Amino acid sequence: MKIILETKRLYLREFMLNDGFYFYHLNKDPEVLKYTGDIPFNSVEEATLFIKNYSDYKINGFGRWAVCLKNSNDFIGWCGLKKDLKTNEVDLGFRIFKNQWQNGYATEAALACVNYGFSELNLTKIIGRAYVVNKASINVLAKCNFNFKKNIIYHQQPAVLYIIENDTNKKNIS
Ligand SMILES: CC(C)(COP(=O)(O)OP(=O)(O)OC[C@H]1O[C@@H](n2cnc3c(N)ncnc32)[C@H](O)[C@@H]1OP(=O)(O)O)[C@@H](O)C(=O)NCCC(=O)NCCS
Repeated sequence: MKIILETKRLYLREFMLNDGFYFYHLNKDPEVLKYTGDIPFNSVEEATLFIKNYSDYKINGFGRWAVCLKNSNDFIGWCGLKKDLKTNEVDLGFRIFKNQWQNGYATEAALACVNYGFSELNLTKIIGRAYVVNKASINVLAKCNFNFKKNIIYHQQPAVLYIIENDTNKKNIS
C-alpha cells in the first residue's frame, strides 16, 4: 500500500486492484454520477481492469488517489490530480460515497491534494470544473480557495471553471 497523503481524519493512497469492488459500487449510484459525465462499470471485473490499466502514477508521478478513513481503513471515495497530456493542465477531481457526504471529507482530501500539488509537485496552477448545478462540488472548490474563472461547456453541460494558482511559485519567479 502506497500512502501519499494524510490529513486529520483521512489518508490518501494509490489505487489497488481490490478497489475495483468499491469503484464498481461508487459508479453504480446514479446520484454520484449525476453531474460527472462518468458511466457505470458493467462489473467488478471491469472496474478492476480499469484500475489495472490506470497509468497516471507511472506517466505523471501523480493521479487520483483512494480516500480512506484513518479510524476504520474504509474506502470512502477518491480525490486527486489529473494531468491532461494535451493541454498540460492539471485538474482536481473527487467522488465520495453518498453515505459519507456532508462530513467535510471531500474538502479535507481536496485541500491536501492542492497543498501536495504546489509544495511537492511544484505545480503552478490547478483547475477545477463543475456543472453549474453541482453546488456541492463548487462549494468544495471555493472552500479550497479556488477562484471562479469563467463559465464553460463541459460534457455538453453549462459548467464553471475554477482556478487556484501557486502564489509561492509566482513570487519565486518574479
Ligand atoms: C462533490 C462531493 C465530492 C462533495 O463531497 P462532501 O464530502 O459531501 O463535501 P464536503 O462535506 O467537504 O462539503 C463541502 C461543502 O459543500 C457543501 N455541500 C455538500 N453537499 C452539498 C449539496 N448537495 N448541496 C449544497 N452544498 C453541499 C457542504 O455543506 C460544504 O460546505 P459548508 O462547509 O459550508 O457546509 C460529493 O457530493 C460527491 O461525491 N458528489 C458526486 C460526485 C461529484 O459530483 N463530483 C464532482 C464532479 S465535478
